[in-house]
Amino acid sequence: MKHIAVVGVGYVGLVSAAGFADLGNRVIALDINEERINGLKKGIMPIYEPGLEEMVERNVASERLSFTTSYAEAIMGADFVFIAVGTPSGVDGEADLKYVKSAAESVAQVMDAPLIIVNKSTVPVGTGDWVAEIIRNSQPKPIPFSVVSCPEFLREGSAILDFMNPARTVLGSQDYEAADKVAQLHLPLRAPIMITNLRTAEMVKYASNAFLATRISFINEIANICEALGADVKEVSTGMGYDARIGPYFLDAGLGYGGSCFPKDVKALAHMADEKGRHPQILQAVMDINDDRRRLLVEKIREGVGDFEGKVIGILGLTFKPNTDDLRDAPALDIAKRLLEGGAKVSAYDPVGMPGAAKLMPEIDMVEDPYALAEASDALVICTEWNEFKQLDLQRIKDLLRNPIIIDGRNIYEPHEMAQLGFTYLAVGRGYHGGKPING
Ligand code: UGA
Repeated sequence: MKHIAVVGVGYVGLVSAAGFADLGNRVIALDINEERINGLKKGIMPIYEPGLEEMVERNVASERLSFTTSYAEAIMGADFVFIAVGTPSGVDGEADLKYVKSAAESVAQVMDAPLIIVNKSTVPVGTGDWVAEIIRNSQPKPIPFSVVSCPEFLREGSAILDFMNPARTVLGSQDYEAADKVAQLHLPLRAPIMITNLRTAEMVKYASNAFLATRISFINEIANICEALGADVKEVSTGMGYDARIGPYFLDAGLGYGGSCFPKDVKALAHMADEKGRHPQILQAVMDINDDRRRLLVEKIREGVGDFEGKVIGILGLTFKPNTDDLRDAPALDIAKRLLEGGAKVSAYDPVGMPGAAKLMPEIDMVEDPYALAEASDALVICTEWNEFKQLDLQRIKDLLRNPIIIDGRNIYEPHEMAQLGFTYLAVGRGYHGGKPING
């Protein structure tokens, strides 16, 4: 049983803390936010994440997991400290490292025995070396330590599953022995483990997120072309995905990427390249295409309903993706803002995102279910592909709506079926409405 301290109880920190405790380690999770820690001590999760509450409860009950706001308490006797604090975007798109800096300083001030400091936060290439310097300069007396980069690849909404079934573990350090000790912690996960140098590990994280974002912008560009040429992007991506060199993932055209990771990480990587005089041409195009997705959907809504003045537009789905309550950079909120600016009224329904959204945008009228939303609206706009929206009684929705118009930013229905039901159905990149696909 190893003793692990985790700094930061956001998505990455809390899931890692619960996950490593579940693997049999003794974990103390620390955050400087007292409200979050007090909540966690009472079993209140600061985020919605399927399976997290049960996992936290189970490990707290077996005394493998506990919470604190005290660095001294968390670090005492720890073999490893994982830094999992936020790295938001700074003014020019660069990652803001103030939380990493203060975590490193605080750890340095209280450590009283050799320690392996593992960085899980997404940080610019070179940050590991900088963290080592901060620790060296902040220690009251020199105590040996090593810094290991261990980027996190889990997705919100399936974070527990991803933690327990990673595609790989990437570790980077100048100290191979320290990296190998961190590797031992990951052995029960039975995934490939790669050990490289610090900067390369840091770069693997950015390159992976930027590549996935590139796939999304690529398929969105193809969707635009499909619309113009009368092809169906959903079938195009299915057809492409059968090629093992391409694969089926991250080829869903729609509203583009949102959330707290891709937008910030692509920007930060472009910023790092710019700073070194390497013009990031693909990354720039990826961001431009993504920025345009929301404007294009609003144009589509206008195509469906005409002038917004006096219309009520019902938004189905507010979170940036399903199975999370996260509203950071959520396309739905941006789209709602544009509709309101255009003179429309906006109503919305989301299975878990409404309390948060009501705080951010009180001008949106929240309703209790999709049918109440249809009843209140001139047209429906799908912004998040929650499973429950795929099973709606569409006949009932049609009867309730003032006009049978659905603008689908996530392509969850089949155009020919919607046409048969009598809807005006405007989806993304689905130029071919000629009939049922042969094997559909
Ligand atoms: C992403 C990565 O997938 C994780 O591997 C990574 O660890 C995480 O960022 C991070 O850096 O912390 P996440 O932001 O939770 O995870 O969500 P994704 O499932 O990757 O979706 C990101 C965005 O892309 C969402 O807005 C989603 O709607 C959009 N997306 C995804 C598409 O528009 N099309 C797709 O085909 C896939």
